[in-house]
Amino acid sequence: MGKPVIGIINTWSEINPCHYHLRERAEFVKRGVWQAGGFPVEIPAMPITEIYMRPSPMLYRNLLAMEVEELLRCMPIDGAVLMGGCDKTTPGLLMGAISMNIPAVYFPAGPMLRGNWNGKFLGSGTDVRKIFTERCAGNVSDEEWLGVEDGIARSPGFCMTMGTASTMTALAEAMGMTLPGASSIPAADSNHPRMAISCGNRIVDMVWEDLKPQDILTREAFENAITVDMAIAGSTNAIIHLVALAGRCGIKLDLELFDQISHKVPVLANIRPSGAYLMEDFFYAGGLRALMSQISDLLHLKAKTVNGHTLGENLAGVGIINKDVIRPRENALAATGGTVILRGSLAPDGAVIKISAATPRLLQHTGPALVFKDYNDLEARINDPNLPVTEDSVLVLQSAGPLGGPGMPEWGMLPIPKKLLDQGVRDMLRISDARMSGTAYGTCVLHASPESHIGGPLALVQDGDKISIDAAGRKLDLLVSDAEMAARRANWKKPAASYGRGYGALYLERVTQANLGCDFDFLGEHMVTAEPEIH
Ligand code: FES
Repeated sequence: MGKPVIGIINTWSEINPCHYHLRERAEFVKRGVWQAGGFPVEIPAMPITEIYMRPSPMLYRNLLAMEVEELLRCMPIDGAVLMGGCDKTTPGLLMGAISMNIPAVYFPAGPMLRGNWNGKFLGSGTDVRKIFTERCAGNVSDEEWLGVEDGIARSPGFCMTMGTASTMTALAEAMGMTLPGASSIPAADSNHPRMAISCGNRIVDMVWEDLKPQDILTREAFENAITVDMAIAGSTNAIIHLVALAGRCGIKLDLELFDQISHKVPVLANIRPSGAYLMEDFFYAGGLRALMSQISDLLHLKAKTVNGHTLGENLAGVGIINKDVIRPRENALAATGGTVILRGSLAPDGAVIKISAATPRLLQHTGPALVFKDYNDLEARINDPNLPVTEDSVLVLQSAGPLGGPGMPEWGMLPIPKKLLDQGVRDMLRISDARMSGTAYGTCVLHASPESHIGGPLALVQDGDKISIDAAGRKLDLLVSDAEMAARRANWKKPAASYGRGYGALYLERVTQANLGCDFDFLGEHMVTAEPEIH
């Protein structure tokens, strides 16, 4: 009847507390669509939930992306509002929308309220990990631990530290795929349903304007996202997701680009795990637009956004409200970005470390490797009182990459051995081909590529080998001779594949390595799929 049909792609489900309110919010989106003269239809999509999915929610990001693309293609939909927020849902929804390339606006689920326990604010992941470490050291009682559990998740919404969810929704805004300010609104704030109505309103006009994701997601938009990622000391996972998102637009992002931008951008978000506050404070302090206003000289201000205005226009007149939560440039939390890229004989295709959440002393370090061949091996031995480990050891975890995990689980923050916890040690150099939760912290080198499962150098490390890191020099080396490495490689046997059938088998066959974004090789290209014939 001449009205644009708007698909509200909703990753709500009862098993994902981060999205628990999205069923209700969809009704607000619908109001906005009706008001603007469109016709809304709500369509459920795969509810990737970070805390319950095994072996890893990352295994399913590409499945969500494929589902979204095909839903938007096979249904009679003119434009889409994408509803998500829990870690993998933001990249999954956006990857699908980019490939289908019809008008789309992203509506972030919003962070939870601050956690609260014993008069202290608690941050998702970050504080629970710290308190759990103390519990392992015998310093926290059962009763106290139950209090932490009761106080950590006080409302719907996603993790309220600067974890992957807060990072990716912030980057969606920095790239221009949300309405201005949308990423910072807490899920429980009344601004949140108002933003849902605005998204419904706006998408109808976007259909008439034919404003599509690939019109917005230019190289400049991705550089804006990387710049903001550094200023918020965002999750290391963002690197993988941005590479994959850009790949869907036919844009190649080299890991070195992250490093180059990192050199120029100060950390301004004083948010855990790198800082002191939480996302609720970030919102009250002015939110992402206030942060971006401080680095406007480092951003491409002419980049287009979904509201039809440029990023620069959307930042006009915005300022910081609380200058401790969002730091002005002259009082930055750190002079340069939080994430750096390492290369060397242990990771020829790159590895990542979040230096803003690491121990400075360990960023220039050489120590003997202590190798765990997989997570089961780690669990079985890490608390053995006879483990041959000192605080100078380098913990190495193998078989945790895209194929090895499988799905590159967030195992990269290896636990500190109990023997060392009892001595007061709280951080060590840890290296793996795994990812790490954005809420985690510590001197953890992640995403070592190529991964051990396909015979990367990580697969050949043995106990006692010397490993050297020089974060300032961007180096990560295994100090073993070429001849010895060749001998080890000749004896190396590829581990068995985890899946022989189904989606898992497709994933193992077609997923790319971390430095290439872990997208499927048949989806990452800028290719056009023909529209289905209508009969
Ligand atoms: Fe959903 Fe952390 S569990 S964002």
